[in-house]
Amino acid sequence: MSAAPRTPRPRRTPPPPPPRRAGGPRLPGIRPAALPAAGSPDWYRRAVFYEVLTRGFFDSNNDGIGDIGGLRAKLDYLEWLGVDCLWLLPYFPSPMRDGGYDISDFFTVHPNLGTLDDLVAFLDDAHRRGIRVIADLVMNHTSDQHPWFVESRSSWDNPKADWYVWNDDDQRWADARVVFVDVETSNWTWEQSRQQYYWHRFYSHQPDLNYENPEVVEAMFDVVRFWLDLGLDGFRLDAVPYLFQRDGTSGENLPETHALLRRLRKEMEAVYPDRVMLAEANQWPADLVDYFGDGDECHMCFHFPLMPRLFMAVRREQRFPVTEILAQTPVIPDGCQWAIFLRNHDELTLEKVSEEERDYMVAEYVKDPRMQRHMGIGRRLAPLLDGDRRLAQLLYALLFSLPGSPVIYYGDELLMGDNLYLGDRDSVRTPMQWSPDRNGGFSRADFAQLYLPPLMDPVYGFESVNVEAQQRNPSSFLHWIRSILQTRKQFPVFGTGSFEVVPCANPSVLAYVRSPHPPAPDTTTAAPDKATRGGRAGRVGRSGRAGAGRGDGAVEVVSNPVLCVHNLSRFAQPAELDLARWAERTPVELLGRVPFQSVGSATYGVTLGPYGFYWFELMDHDPMGRGDGNDGAPG
Ligand code: NOJ
Ligand code: CA
Repeated sequence: MSAAPRTPRPRRTPPPPPPRRAGGPRLPGIRPAALPAAGSPDWYRRAVFYEVLTRGFFDSNNDGIGDIGGLRAKLDYLEWLGVDCLWLLPYFPSPMRDGGYDISDFFTVHPNLGTLDDLVAFLDDAHRRGIRVIADLVMNHTSDQHPWFVESRSSWDNPKADWYVWNDDDQRWADARVVFVDVETSNWTWEQSRQQYYWHRFYSHQPDLNYENPEVVEAMFDVVRFWLDLGLDGFRLDAVPYLFQRDGTSGENLPETHALLRRLRKEMEAVYPDRVMLAEANQWPADLVDYFGDGDECHMCFHFPLMPRLFMAVRREQRFPVTEILAQTPVIPDGCQWAIFLRNHDELTLEKVSEEERDYMVAEYVKDPRMQRHMGIGRRLAPLLDGDRRLAQLLYALLFSLPGSPVIYYGDELLMGDNLYLGDRDSVRTPMQWSPDRNGGFSRADFAQLYLPPLMDPVYGFESVNVEAQQRNPSSFLHWIRSILQTRKQFPVFGTGSFEVVPCANPSVLAYVRSPHPPAPDTTTAAPDKATRGGRAGRVGRSGRAGAGRGDGAVEVVSNPVLCVHNLSRFAQPAELDLARWAERTPVELLGRVPFQSVGSATYGVTLGPYGFYWFELMDHDPMGRGDGNDGAPG
């Protein structure tokens, strides 16, 4: 924002809104994608999501920029990995001053990334494989290059004059915080041609749309219909808390915003009942849950406050940061689901922690001032953990077992690194590393042509960290994550079950039980499976697990609770668990199907290695057919 001389001029009376348009551009000459096979409408509650940056994934035409054709070419990989739903970061035309969140046309694909036909072909292929696809819907703002804004800024009386938020001074809504505090000094920027200020919650080149104007609402609903008609399975709703402003408020989470989201849900559901709305609202739990409404607003919401607390907990080697925030998290309406994540395309945000906690996180995780971006840390998962694989496994075990649907950030399944010398959040948006070949197998373009340089350092560079090498090595991190992902999918209780912390005197141990909802009584009536002993001593056959198919199979056959025990410490730890509620049950470890000693009346002892964890199915019978006592079972 720059101060500028003011020219007084008469106030304009806004013209009455024109009649509501019957519909926006509707797929001109484009064939919509085939729909995914019908599944349960709440498929997203069991799904594993994978966040992907189209321009960073795979370059199918060798121009140095990943593209939609590249996504399509890598569907084999994504299917092999076992993810259920892709979340595509913005792929729209854009001057690219905010990674594509500065959109200049909502109705097509950025020419660098392909065409609408490419997108339809990709959706067809993804759906055929049972993979759903959601994309960012940036409702709050546009690029200042968007024709709507170009028109709006041009005069006081053009047809789009009130499509953005204009004011004569820059003092209004002074209680609204500046989100990118390190870059912007105000939420207002002066516009010379209108002799007014325009409102923006993010960069000054991203003017906020004016949702008080019904034409804007209708235009955005047209955008929504357009992409749903085309075959998208839903949206990640970017920056939703900021849609409205009101005097004397922070301009976040206003009732008007919630009313608009409920309207959007209603419109969507009327025509597309199985599509999902996922809210990006970086808010405290009490405000976050409002985005679910009474089950009539967003289907999903990112649990922002949980994420930094996972990193805090493992550094402090104490469960408290996680249990505290979960205790503060209200119960969510039926049919709703959290989206939980470790890292994403943005900085590791520290907005929703106390000042003391922020200082702690910076002291522990920011080794170089270059790592700080906006109000957070611009690093990927592996470097944050100093490359410690055990710790990464522990964090993924938490991600895959805490309440919510996990979202994996592309490349983090390989433990890819970051590049602190790139500006803004590009540090964590470098090309996917496919092989040790030129440009990491991402593109055959000249290195100088690439949208960003691939990592080439000896630790995280593509010669050491890549899909090809990890696919060949059965003990790689990639294989590990694939197998734990399959395990999760066999137990839908991870997606839909209730959550209960198990008391344990050792503060480094985080144990909880995920139970079928509502929790099965101790005398569960679930038909016990026959213990079909396999070839390996001490292993038992499968219980009533869901098939290992995609997340929307909705095969809720498992009625046994699952006990998850995690050691947040770098040293081995004993855990005495109060499992009185599950007395007589037999814990069977999920990854190896090894039965442990049955739960008795005393506390249940488990020993965990450094950063170790166990997930147990709590079976209502002993699959080994043992009586009381220790029939030589491991324990
Ligand atoms: C949230 C997006 O995740 C972030 O990348 C972007 O900078 C802001 N919204 C503003 O569009
Ligand atoms: Ca390309």
